[in-house]
Amino acid sequence: MSEETMSEAPAVQPGTSRRNFIKGVIAAGATVSASAYLFRTSVVGQNGGAAVGERLITLDINGQQRKVDVARNETLAMTLRYKLGLTGTKLGCDRAECGACTVLVDDVPRYSCSTLTHSVRHAKIVSIEGLASGDGKLHPVQQAVVDGQGFQCAFCMPGFVMATVGYLKTNPNPTREQLAHGISGNLCRCADYNKILDCMMHAAQLSRGA
Ligand code: FES
Ligand code: FES
Repeated sequence: MSEETMSEAPAVQPGTSRRNFIKGVIAAGATVSASAYLFRTSVVGQNGGAAVGERLITLDINGQQRKVDVARNETLAMTLRYKLGLTGTKLGCDRAECGACTVLVDDVPRYSCSTLTHSVRHAKIVSIEGLASGDGKLHPVQQAVVDGQGFQCAFCMPGFVMATVGYLKTNPNPTREQLAHGISGNLCRCADYNKILDCMMHAAQLSRGA
């Protein structure tokens, strides 16, 4: 397991505003990793069976072709976080209940904790790290989160952002009720739903260029 996978949430440096701190977290997707999952990953990483050569696949992630050694029973969340260092994808429940692990697979939001990596080897995968443009400009949904400061601990934030990006592709101009329904597969343990919805309605506006 690399040190990168063991990174904890970045500390707020003296003189750093909350807004800039959160912006940094959103851009890097770097928040707390649960130690329980890190432990489990070490087990997955030692998974025996097929030879490494049989498991070496190429994934299309965030516009890049990434070669990675993937066990047959490995989930996409595990591959993203612990093989590719894309820790912006969070693991909450690890059982298709909370949405913290949401990524886009061919533009459709999917729970990466419940998706076998081998099943998406021919798909286009986008994680929170792939949303900003090459020059660092945040995606409108990310920008709306920065503008609205809509999350408390923000553990659920990457999943909500990815779910919203995916939903807005199918309905760019939703009512508040439609959007709430569209991202209802995501849970927030801080239960800050009204503020999150405010943010995501603003995100819809920004995405339309309004
Ligand atoms: S971690 Fe995947 S749905 Fe909760
Ligand atoms: S803001 Fe804390 S889990 Fe959603």
